Order: sequence, then structure tokens, then C-alpha cells
Amino acid sequence: MYPKAERPARPSSALAGSVTGPDGAPNVGPLTGLNEDWRRRSLAAVWHPCTQMKLHAADGAAQPLVPIARAEGVWLHDFEGRRLLDGISSWWVNLFGHNHPAIRAALVEQLDQLDHVLLAGFTHAPVVRLSERLAALTGLGHAFYASDGASAVEIALKMSAHHWRNAGRPAKCRFVGVAGGYHGETVGALAVTDIALFREAYAPLLRLAATVPSPDARAAVDGEDAAAAAERAAAALADWLAAHHAQTAALIVEPLVQCAAGMAMHHPRYLQRARELCDRYQVHLVLDEIAVGFGRTGTLFAHQQAGIRPDLLCLSKGLTGGTLPLSVVLSTDAIYAAFYDDAVARGFLHSHSYTGNPLACRAALATLDLFEQTDALRSNVVTAARLAALFEPLSMHPRVRHARRQGMIFAWDVASSLPDFARRYARHALEQGVLLRPIGTTLYAMPPYVISEAEGEHLATGALAALEATLAEEAAGHVPTQGEVDGV
Ligand SMILES: Cc1ncc(COP(=O)(O)O)c(C=O)c1O
Repeated sequence: MYPKAERPARPSSALAGSVTGPDGAPNVGPLTGLNEDWRRRSLAAVWHPCTQMKLHAADGAAQPLVPIARAEGVWLHDFEGRRLLDGISSWWVNLFGHNHPAIRAALVEQLDQLDHVLLAGFTHAPVVRLSERLAALTGLGHAFYASDGASAVEIALKMSAHHWRNAGRPAKCRFVGVAGGYHGETVGALAVTDIALFREAYAPLLRLAATVPSPDARAAVDGEDAAAAAERAAAALADWLAAHHAQTAALIVEPLVQCAAGMAMHHPRYLQRARELCDRYQVHLVLDEIAVGFGRTGTLFAHQQAGIRPDLLCLSKGLTGGTLPLSVVLSTDAIYAAFYDDAVARGFLHSHSYTGNPLACRAALATLDLFEQTDALRSNVVTAARLAALFEPLSMHPRVRHARRQGMIFAWDVASSLPDFARRYARHALEQGVLLRPIGTTLYAMPPYVISEAEGEHLATGALAALEATLAEEAAGHVPTQGEVDGV
């Protein structure tokens, strides 16, 4: 299906084990099964995320399920010695390549010391060190941990509303988000997520937040530039807050890039105005940097480009370099102080079993070390410019609109009427040896920072070839595949 790797998949002794599956085959290593075996077993036993499973199941599936045996650098290797370039950093989590030796060494050392201990009533070195470092990097001195991005969003929303309750203003318990915003799919996070496909089926379960217009630079009208489009969106926010601030606990924003909306990028002016307005109306500014944090947009944190500080900052994904699930909410002293009290019920009574897991914190520390040791933010400037040049033919393609980039995030809108464009494109990309999953008709690339010149060329060439193949199918007459729209 995709090109042969130079090196065949090797069995991993670290995965060796004796547990067997229902068909008697080993559940864990050595990894020798054929792709088809793993695909079949997965389809029988695993319910995959964000997926209509039927799209995987039919013969000649519209959306092939790809078994992966191991990964290294920018490459994902299947069970039959073929490889794919991970052009989306495995859902935007990977920063320094898969299986990075420094992160792996830190994890092995940590396993020798402490695997896990509950964080209620106990503490440990990795969580203390990580919290200190994140505070120094952001100026937000109190770190509350969870495992996934959506959990961090839940925490930030609860923290905000509880803060106002403790401050004697319980009516401030509603939230406002930005049109097209995505903050995760648990019930609380989904309530501030404005993507109909994810939200519709669960609408009766949600306490829906309000939405204000997006500052998306593509919405610029009448000769406006991106800054003017941001000002216009901020004016709408100002009107909304003037009317509703008494009931509003927080505004939640993905700074600079609304990724799941289709890499909608905006000018930092919006964040500056949002900060001013939140101060004026005593509304918390929650910044969700789960996708854009850790260098993706060019600075370590996206909000730094606006010269502002949020009241609550949500981080996850790249936090551990893409190795282990970990998320954190960083808060101001003022929010923390509102919970510090003799009354237990005024404390933030929220927990997850794996809160502050030592292994995940250790991976995060190793990731922060890599930023320093490799001067990653500076070298990303060079890498991003080089990739932009390689992507030039794609950016200039006659069917491409709004070629855009923010740091190491590249996006292009394709003029296509195929309702299943994303799925068709992803299939062609696999054939080219690249993992790319458009959002609707927006094609994007978010590769690991360590991508080399030759790997960049493979990505850019594959991305263009997949576009040509998809458009050729469209030209030949659209035969709809199963289902219609796609997820992320
Ligand atoms: C901006 C943003 N917030 C929250 C989330 C949810 O994170 P998770 O999938 O880890 O729950 C995502 C995931 O893509 C995201 O992009």
C-alpha cells in the first residue's frame, strides 16, 4: 500500500510477553503478525476513536485501518517493513520524533525509581520539578494535573466557576467560546466546543456555552488585513461581554490557531483585546494551548506573541513530547488564593487517579530539556522556512486557496466539492507513504520538529501527489464512498 522501508520492522524485545489473544496468537510481541492479521483483530476487539467503524470494516474499506508495529523519528513502521511519514505528529502530540532516546532514557530511569503514587497527600520529584519549570516559563504558579486535553478543559471551567462562587459571585457560572472552537469531547469540554459533527448527538446532555465570532483571518472583508479582522471579532466580543459579563465566568480561546476548525489562524491583536475585555468585565481568560503549545506556533506558547498572560492555561499533547498522556492547568495566584481556606468545600475537590503521574511528568521534563538542548524554537524557524519552500508547488496549486502558516503549522484550503474529500485524500496520502488527514477540505501538515530536508521533500511530494490523485477522482466523476463528512 505504501513504500517499503529501507529497514524491515524489527521485533521489540521490550514488548515480549506471553499473553495470548482469543485466537491463540500473542497479544504482545514479538511483533511478527501481518498487517492484515492485526487489522482484523483490531476491528473485532477495539472501538477506535472519532471513527465510524463501518468505514474500516467493509472490503476495500473507504478508510483503511493501518496497523503500526513501531516508530522512530518521523516514521511509523507497519508489520511488513513499510513505513509512513507522520505528517500530523500523531494528532499533534509528537515534537522531537518518535522513540526519542533522551525521553526513553528518562522514562527508564524513572521506572527504576517510582512508577506511580497518588498525588493527594503525597508528592514526588518529577511533579515538583515540572510544576516549578512550567511556572517559570509561564508566570502561572499553580499546576493542576490530569491526563488528557479534555480533562484539562473540564478542570479550567470548573476552577473558573468555583472561583467566582468562592468570591461571592455564584451567578458567574456561564462560559463563552469562539465560533468553530474545539476543546475536547467530554461533556463539559464539548459544551464549549463549536463543531456540530461532534456535538449534535449529545446536545441534550450539554449546558451549551455561548459563541462569539471567530477572528479567523480568512474572514477578512473589504480590504481588511488580519489585524482588522481580529479587531472586528474583538468588537463583537466586547458587545457580548457588555451584555452578559455578570453571568460569565470565563472566555475560552485557542490562541493563534483554531486547529480542529480547519487551522483557522488569527492575528495576536485578538488575544490582546480579549485580555483587555476580560480584565474590564472581570471574566477569566482561559487559553487552550493543548494543540498550539510547546513551539507549534513559533514561540514556546502562542499567547506570548500577544504579550499577554491568561488566568488559566491548558496544556497537553506536546507536553510529554508525544509519549504519555499528561495535561495540566496552570493558574494565577489570585485564582489559587480564592480556594485557600479553612473550609474543605471551598477547596478544588477534583481528582483523577493518575493525576501527576511520575512517568508522564518525567517525560515532560525530558521534553523541556530538549527544547533547551536543541535550541528548538530557533531551529524550527529554519525548518519551517525550508518546509514552506518545499510546499510551494502545493501552495501555488490552482485548486488551493488560503495557503497559510503559523510556525510549524501549514494549511491549505482545497476547492473541491467531494463530500468525502478528506477520506479520499488520506487514502491517497497513505499510498504515497505519508500520514495526512485533512479536516473537511482543509489540508494541513504539522510534522515533528526533527523532520530533515529529505523527509520534508518526501512529505511535500507525497502531499501534492495525493492532492492530484484526489482531484483526478473528482474529475472522473464522483462516486461517493460510504458515509459523508469526516472527523479530525
Ligand atoms: C485545542 C484543543 N483542546 C482540547 C483538545 C482535547 O484534547 P484530548 O484529545 O487530549 O482530550 C484538543 C485535541 O485535539 C485540542 O486540539
